[in-house]
Amino acid sequence: MSIDIAVVPVAGHGTRLLPATKSQPKEMLPVGRKPVVQYVVEELAHSGIRRLLFITGASKTSIENHFDIDDRLITYLRESGREEELAQLDFERRDIEYFYTRQRRQLGLGHAVLCARSLVGQQPFVVALGDSIIGINAKSDIVQRMADEFERSKADLVVAFEEVPPSDVVRYGIAKPRGAVSDIFELEDVVEKPAANEAPSTLAVAARYVFSPAIFDELVETKPGKGGEIQLTDAMRSLLKKGGKGIGFRLPATEPRFDIGNYESYYQSFVEFALADPDYGPGLKAHLQKLLANG
Ligand code: G1P
Repeated sequence: MSIDIAVVPVAGHGTRLLPATKSQPKEMLPVGRKPVVQYVVEELAHSGIRRLLFITGASKTSIENHFDIDDRLITYLRESGREEELAQLDFERRDIEYFYTRQRRQLGLGHAVLCARSLVGQQPFVVALGDSIIGINAKSDIVQRMADEFERSKADLVVAFEEVPPSDVVRYGIAKPRGAVSDIFELEDVVEKPAANEAPSTLAVAARYVFSPAIFDELVETKPGKGGEIQLTDAMRSLLKKGGKGIGFRLPATEPRFDIGNYESYYQSFVEFALADPDYGPGLKAHLQKLLANG
């Protein structure tokens, strides 16, 4: 894969997860042993991303701290012979360059991505939302497969989608496929958070995108849309309307998307990751079984 730069927006307020997110980013909430954003970075690294630009905002500095190399902690653990705990910090030494910029006004996801323009310039790039994990323990190379398809089919945008129940279409960007839907399909249009009776499908944008730099020209022109925010979906829509080529990627059942944007799916995600923990999963399973058996 030659695309090696990813933009990770983490500037949102996380209001759907208050009060947990009052003074800490939702992207730092733990899912099992790691904060959400660490899984995102590990997934991207696995797909060949080497430059990572976070679009941050107020009270998000703990994300920057998390990816710094903490020499004092390393020395302390080494000197006290705690090799196992030291190994938990291996992710700090990944071969990735980190960049951070602030979205200085909260104008929406589209505006957050536009903040990346000067750094990204005239090259294709990945967008990975910092509140979503793909695959249990982020074992997914979907971004790599999307980037390969982007290059092979000379697309302008490639977007990951997941099937959602009709009652959930109001939460997501929804695909209008052109023709029949298979695992990879052509995208005719995409609509941000439609009402259930107006949704063109039940395929929801699943937090991973590959874009040509042409998306920036659309974002500059995009007016506030749903919720008064500058929507990435609206910029995608106008690029498609102008004849841009869009490809949809349906997430396979083996690589589900874990959405850490609301409590319902956060709870489900945490339990699933905790059950998969090699040390504590079996004990937790027995505990849950006991709880459930007791009604
Ligand atoms: C954003 C996008 C939406 C997408 C979703 C995925 O919405 O606007 O199209 O489906 O992320 O998580 P948000 O969750 O920021 O409201």
